[in-house]
Amino acid sequence: MAEEKIIGIDLGTTNSVVAVMEGNEVKVIANRDGDRITPSIVAFTDKGDRPVGEKAKRQAVTNPKRTIYSIKRFMGRRHNEVESEEKLVPYKVVGGPNDLVKVEIDGKQFTPPEISAMILRELKESAEAYLGHTVRKAVITVPAYFNDSQRQATIDAAAIAGFDTDYEIRGKDGKVVKQRMRIINEPTAASIAYAFDKKKDQKIAVFDLGGGTFDVSILDVGDDGVFQVLSTNGDTHLGGDDFDQVLMDYLADEFKKEHGADLRKDPMAMQRLKQAAEQAKKDLSSQANTDVNLPFITMDENRNPLHLVRSISRNQFERMADHLIERCKKPVLAALKDAKLTPNQVDEVVLVGGMTRMPRVQQLVKEIFGKEGHKGVNPDEVVAVGAAIQGAQLLLGAAADIQLLDVTPLTLGIKTLGGVLTPMITRNTTIPTRKSETYTTAADNQPSVEVEVYQGERPMADDNKKIGSFHLDGIQPAPARVPKIEVTFELDANGVLSVTAKDLGTNKQQSIRIEGSSGMTKEEVERMKRDAELHAEEDKKKREFAEAKNEAENRVHAVEKMMQEAGDKLTDADKAPVTAAVQKVREAIPRGDLGALKSATSGLDAAATAMAQHVASKAGGPGAEPGPTAEKKDGGDDVMDAEYEVKK
Ligand SMILES: Nc1ncnc2c1ncn2[C@@H]1O[C@H](COP(=O)(O)OP(=O)(O)OP(=O)(O)O)[C@@H](O)[C@H]1O
Ligand SMILES: [Mg+2]
Repeated sequence: MAEEKIIGIDLGTTNSVVAVMEGNEVKVIANRDGDRITPSIVAFTDKGDRPVGEKAKRQAVTNPKRTIYSIKRFMGRRHNEVESEEKLVPYKVVGGPNDLVKVEIDGKQFTPPEISAMILRELKESAEAYLGHTVRKAVITVPAYFNDSQRQATIDAAAIAGFDTDYEIRGKDGKVVKQRMRIINEPTAASIAYAFDKKKDQKIAVFDLGGGTFDVSILDVGDDGVFQVLSTNGDTHLGGDDFDQVLMDYLADEFKKEHGADLRKDPMAMQRLKQAAEQAKKDLSSQANTDVNLPFITMDENRNPLHLVRSISRNQFERMADHLIERCKKPVLAALKDAKLTPNQVDEVVLVGGMTRMPRVQQLVKEIFGKEGHKGVNPDEVVAVGAAIQGAQLLLGAAADIQLLDVTPLTLGIKTLGGVLTPMITRNTTIPTRKSETYTTAADNQPSVEVEVYQGERPMADDNKKIGSFHLDGIQPAPARVPKIEVTFELDANGVLSVTAKDLGTNKQQSIRIEGSSGMTKEEVERMKRDAELHAEEDKKKREFAEAKNEAENRVHAVEKMMQEAGDKLTDADKAPVTAAVQKVREAIPRGDLGALKSATSGLDAAATAMAQHVASKAGGPGAEPGPTAEKKDGGDDVMDAEYEVKK
């Protein structure tokens, strides 16, 4: 059996990356398109295909309502929590104000974990193609500030994509350990990638400016391999998209001044503008100037085409984006304060996220910390690299070299009398952790109590995020305030909550699943997983058929060209079997049957080879060699080559 692997996945808002540890090296795995970075985009096309990544991104301009990007912003969120992100996306977001959001495509609804699962599956398949065997386990990263619902939604996505969420690992010591699949925080992953092999005591700041979010974390890394998060902070609405928007606004304003036409009213023009703005932004990280050139971007009132042509300098761009750079400062200073460190006590600043390639961002890091950010690991890949290292560590079981001590980013508590949030586990508590508290009844002979669980820092429960509620039934009849019910919160290493309750009078214990945290029951996840598998199977068949069709068409083309060029060297009798075989291929294509198409194509190969040999033997001379056999992979071209030889 192939060696067991746990791959590492950075499931980003904008881009995703998959990596695996091989020996002492981490390998970032290229996807089907040959790219190390996969845009986190899924499209639904007219043909019923669901391209993921670069292919989906490329068709976004013409298919905006069915091209799903930034789905991570909707993971585990209720509709009333995502008003601002909903405005940013052209696709349809549905659900009542208190419902977990779904996206609607062609009248069909998908949960965010289902969409994320499509991205995960693509990465899983890339890893399988690279490793040459099935992969069922992964470490997936999430932002440090992700709450219980968002983490649970990420695990659901992994399950739907076909990853094991509960498994056993046999450690190097031979012991079998049951394990929940791991999700780790992105900054922790980045610091692992940086510090894993350094084995020294140091304080690390992780500065992560990605596509949609800004995160900063301060960690204490010990020479004993303990990674302890000291603090974390950030801005969930600050990232590369905002920098793109600044450029788009500028270009649209200038265009209006110059031509009087408003690009903002033309969705297709805006999509093109967005892609051009992002490209210009990237160019300006390595060049002092760039040109934006969008011919035929829109039309004037007389329906004459208008072109957008503009040159932008890095300097100009930096001035336009100055308020965004300024906004990065506050979270960094707050994180330092929480960690009780001054900037110069930080030994290393690890730069993460594509936006840290922008020179002005690097300059900001230097201004704050008094030292250059670390650029040793690729900022787009560092998180996935860290996740892959952690994946390999998990396989070592007890022999692991590193230990992660992460903290919970938000307080967990229960709604009590008067609507107050009574904390059970406070923010910045190191996880895993557990906490018990005793509750009682308010009325005589009360048979059940309702426990409502919230996560957040505001004093009134309703101002925080409700992550679920449960009823505790079967309480024995007793006067008010007599029953004693012990409620235990357990926060696992993934930051996911489970609750148990015990009636201390009867010692009866109940495990409570917090329904509605991610919005999905186990059964729903199972159903979605089966759907996804079915679709993946269909997709594979479609892909195979498309390839076979392509090949068949190439052969037909080659053979027809050969017959044409041979001219009167071929009699009608020579041509007849080939023409018949071509006809068979043409009929097989629209039928959509892979087996039939393949056999028609090999029939054509055989007929064409026979014809080529026949012609060659008639001509004699050096061309009389038999043509290549039909089995040869790109036989179509080879048949044609044989024909050229004949003509010589
Ligand atoms: N050379 C570059 N110069 C400036 N920005 C860049 C460059 N390369 C990529 N970016 C930007 O980086 C952003 C994507 O970063 P990254 O891939 O780290 O995001 P992500 O991890 O998907 O998002 P998030 O961290 O918000 O979940 C995009 O806005 C992209 O335009
Ligand atoms: Mg990221």
